[in-house]
Amino acid sequence: MHSDLIAAENLAYNYQDGTRALDGVTLSLPHNAKAAILGPNGAGKSTLFLHFNGLLRPHSGLVYYKGKALQYHTKALQVLRREVGIVFQNPDNQLFSSSVFQDISFGLMNQGCNPAEARRRVEEVGSKLGIEPLFSKPTHFLSVGQKKMVALAGVLVMEPELIICDEPTAGLDPGNAERFMRVLDELHRQGKAMVISTHDVNLAYQWADVVWLLNKGKVLAQGSPVEVFSQREVLKAARLETPWLLETWQEMAALGLASPNLPPRSKSQFRQTLIKP
Ligand SMILES: Nc1ncnc2c1ncn2[C@@H]1O[C@H](COP(=O)(O)OP(=O)(O)OP(=O)(O)O)[C@@H](O)[C@H]1O
Ligand SMILES: [Mg+2]
Repeated sequence: MHSDLIAAENLAYNYQDGTRALDGVTLSLPHNAKAAILGPNGAGKSTLFLHFNGLLRPHSGLVYYKGKALQYHTKALQVLRREVGIVFQNPDNQLFSSSVFQDISFGLMNQGCNPAEARRRVEEVGSKLGIEPLFSKPTHFLSVGQKKMVALAGVLVMEPELIICDEPTAGLDPGNAERFMRVLDELHRQGKAMVISTHDVNLAYQWADVVWLLNKGKVLAQGSPVEVFSQREVLKAARLETPWLLETWQEMAALGLASPNLPPRSKSQFRQTLIKP
């Protein structure tokens, strides 16, 4: 576990009003892995994310990054936050500069990056996300989905090792959701690790290497998408459906219409499992 990129060990956290948001969470993310965390509203997903870059400090338990327990003094947190970037669930918590361009470049300028290099990086990320036309717009005039894309850009330009996105596709149209996930995949191919939270079981099943299920501050399951989504009782407890690909394949395999050996993770793999009459 301590050889993983980031790990939580027996984390517990209570908010000031006494809400126990995390209750003994132990999980870990291997280097260069893509993880999806799922669970009902209030399960503790966002609270866990805030522990990953030290914005919240656990009441008990430890967070390890690259094998070392987090330290909470300013210097250590500055270093950590350069490596662990978070896109918050609500982009209004992230955007505060007057224009989109300024907002995306804020972190870089703050770190002393020279303006030409900052412009190059902002333009590169902006073009990948298709938000260049918004550069001169005031952030408060953006639509919700546009704000989300801009908040993502502001994190990506910092080139963090671990990218954490809290419900990245919520509120995005299908084209932008796909673009967003494509950019994450490209970063993954470049060696980055990432964690997203989502309520979309189909996205998690097809995209993630590792799935974490959280409910009432506790881990209900963790493992590969096939391992986790094959546990019907656990899904029921987390009020989640079986992903359509897995369910359709299970039914067809039971009828002898699909090969029962390897559950497909994509439509093309699904086609290959079909047994032709
Ligand atoms: N600042 C706060 N003060 C008190 N309780 C809080 C605070 N923030 C979150 N909580 C509570 O902590 C629990 C976990 O909340 P959290 O936001 O982590 O859930 P979540 O899994 O991200 O939910 P969602 O799917 O709705 O985003 C909830 O019961 C919530 O009401
Ligand atoms: Mg949340």
